[in-house]
Amino acid sequence: MIDKNQLKKRESESIFQTYGRQDVVLVRGSRARVWDSDGKEYLDFVAGIAVNNVGHCHPRVVEAICQQAARLIHTSNLYYTENQVLLAEELKRLTGMKRAYFCNSGAESVEAALKLTRRATGKSKIVAAERAFHGRTLGALGLTYKPIYREPFQPLSEAAFIPYNDVEALKSAVTRETAAIILEPVQGEAGVYVPDADYLKSARQICDDAGAQLIFDEVQTGFGRTGKWFGKDHSGVQPDIITLAKAIGGGLPMGAMLAGESVSEAFQKGDHGSTFAGGPLISAAALATIEVIKRELLVQRSEELGRYLRNALERLEPREIRGQGLMVGLDLDADCKMLVEKALQEGVLINNTGEHTLRLIPPLVVTKEEIDRVVTVIGELL
Ligand SMILES: Cc1ncc(COP(=O)(O)O)c(C=O)c1O
Repeated sequence: MIDKNQLKKRESESIFQTYGRQDVVLVRGSRARVWDSDGKEYLDFVAGIAVNNVGHCHPRVVEAICQQAARLIHTSNLYYTENQVLLAEELKRLTGMKRAYFCNSGAESVEAALKLTRRATGKSKIVAAERAFHGRTLGALGLTYKPIYREPFQPLSEAAFIPYNDVEALKSAVTRETAAIILEPVQGEAGVYVPDADYLKSARQICDDAGAQLIFDEVQTGFGRTGKWFGKDHSGVQPDIITLAKAIGGGLPMGAMLAGESVSEAFQKGDHGSTFAGGPLISAAALATIEVIKRELLVQRSEELGRYLRNALERLEPREIRGQGLMVGLDLDADCKMLVEKALQEGVLINNTGEHTLRLIPPLVVTKEEIDRVVTVIGELL
């Protein structure tokens, strides 16, 4: 193993410095735990940023990857492969949508949604929410709210931003010129904001009235994270387009954009594409991941343990606790950046989305004991 300080130096000399990294080199993971290069164990309440829903290196996912890797890793989309079709059918069943387009990340799934909505409506104006995060590629960046991310890269095709969870604002922003509204069913990167029960329903109605499409960005809320299969399932609202990524591949990079009846025929041959998208290896991993979520009842577990986590966090007397399932935001009267660094020393990985906000998004296989330990550590540090 390369010595940690050496590795940090070499990283700083060889990789664009776009990431603020924690002071640790991770080498191994299992369930809700990871280990660093010195053999120290950590409880992982970041889960690769809401990716490792089935835990690190789940044996079923590892087995599926190894078996498929030995058979066929890549062929491109010039040819048919079985896993891709099986996965599309499974995603259709889970989401109630009509067709899937595969890609390689969350931002790419948003790009695909933007292109599809343009193709279907012939319009380009998008309404998005303040605090929203939809990715950092040029199209998705125009829908991402934080000016600090957007300003250095002008000109962008930008959304009209309206306050989240404000029906009147949405009504006044959407016109017959609007192609689509894009919303996260729960805002993740913002610090976990759950909308009122009828907000997404109103968004559906506003879209229908204006002839606009409704896009749900479920990149972070998908695959059991919120205690339902998808964030949309809390409201019963069916959007026209859903974007997925993060947890879908059990840790391998994948994205998917699914479209409902209204737009499912809009893309024509050549309208969009990607070399690696939906390849046999990643699709095998995704099928195994979904199988594990079903078999181990991880959606229900997320709901139950999310409740347990939020109750346990009450002990810390925070300013506010927000969340659905195992997607939890916590506002504290503390320097949360420093808290994250200190928690690392105590063997706990957590993440802050703001100066006074922590986000807890552990693997859905986390145990009550692990939750208790993390809450105790945060409490002691406070
Ligand atoms: C809701 C949402 N959309 C899109 C993205 C972008 O995903 P990716 O980082 O895979 O491009 C993220 C990433 O955090 C996200 O939370």
